[in-house]
Amino acid sequence: MTTQASELGSDFSKDLLTLDELSPSEFRSLLDLSEILKNERQQRKFLHQTPGSSLAILFEKPSTRTRVSFEVGMFELGGHAVVLNSKELQLSRGETPEDTAKVLSVFCQAIAARVYSHETLERFSKGSNVPVINALSNLYHPCQALADFLTIKEFKKKLRGLAIAWIGDGNNVCNSLLIGAALSGANFTVACPEKYRPLPEALDKARYLSRSSGSQISIIESPREAVIGADVVVTDTFVSMGEDGEKEERLREFLPEYQVNDELMSLAKPDAIFMHCLPAHRGEEVSSSVIDGPQSVVWQEAENRLHTQKALLYSLLRRPKGQKDKALFGN
Ligand code: CP
Ligand code: NVA
Repeated sequence: MTTQASELGSDFSKDLLTLDELSPSEFRSLLDLSEILKNERQQRKFLHQTPGSSLAILFEKPSTRTRVSFEVGMFELGGHAVVLNSKELQLSRGETPEDTAKVLSVFCQAIAARVYSHETLERFSKGSNVPVINALSNLYHPCQALADFLTIKEFKKKLRGLAIAWIGDGNNVCNSLLIGAALSGANFTVACPEKYRPLPEALDKARYLSRSSGSQISIIESPREAVIGADVVVTDTFVSMGEDGEKEERLREFLPEYQVNDELMSLAKPDAIFMHCLPAHRGEEVSSSVIDGPQSVVWQEAENRLHTQKALLYSLLRRPKGQKDKALFGN
């Protein structure tokens, strides 16, 4: 008998700002629920399990995948997404993030936000009475990490013990992937220049979690060393949103050594997959031959944003009133 999403008793309601808020079993359950929701969608059995729920989703930066997957996800769950551009809110005229979140949480059962400074999310969380989801900050991108681990699980049939190589900038996506790897027992090697290492706080969180999960977490400089024997090779832009002023310097630091191209991929396992959260910059962090080649799973990865976010929203919004469980956070 196949399990249906409606039979799963997902029961947590809290912020998701880094990924570290999830226990290993909550992380596993979210991925399991995502698989079920994906299957149900493929069978066109839309669930409408959260009728009447509204999500406020606020953007300080551009977005294609995150915006559309949240909006469509809410629609498919029977709820509604209110998409807000921060420039059009009173935030742009000085209303504080705390006050803004307090008001949004009167109208909506969850708040998602894409911000320049991670601190803004923490201030939203302080003011909000409903869960706050990080839709990307300068430091973390937990929703991307959920989709990435679902993708890896689909292609590799497991997570524990896999060798994942991150090549390039130790950025927001890398920080959340580090935590995801440590939650799931996957081994994670970051190859980056000394100056572009991941956030020390993310590394500490990952190393702490890895003590129970057995993940091996390594930070090295050589991309070649990192990809030898890898099951998964991942990269992202060398110039994230908000870093355009550093573009020339960054491209000088990363190129040509850190580009994922055919030569680098040839050092990974023959059945290794290539991943990228998108948007991609062909000729910079990845060659066209790799991202458009047979080992690339980037389109499946992008699709999985929808399924994992639906699982997250479903788990958060099924609780009565969508109230944030303050006890879990002590705030
Ligand atoms: N990967 C990702 O977050 O894409 P968008 O910037 O298009 O939302
Ligand atoms: N690291 C990139 C991810 C984009 C989805 C950025 O922050 O711009």
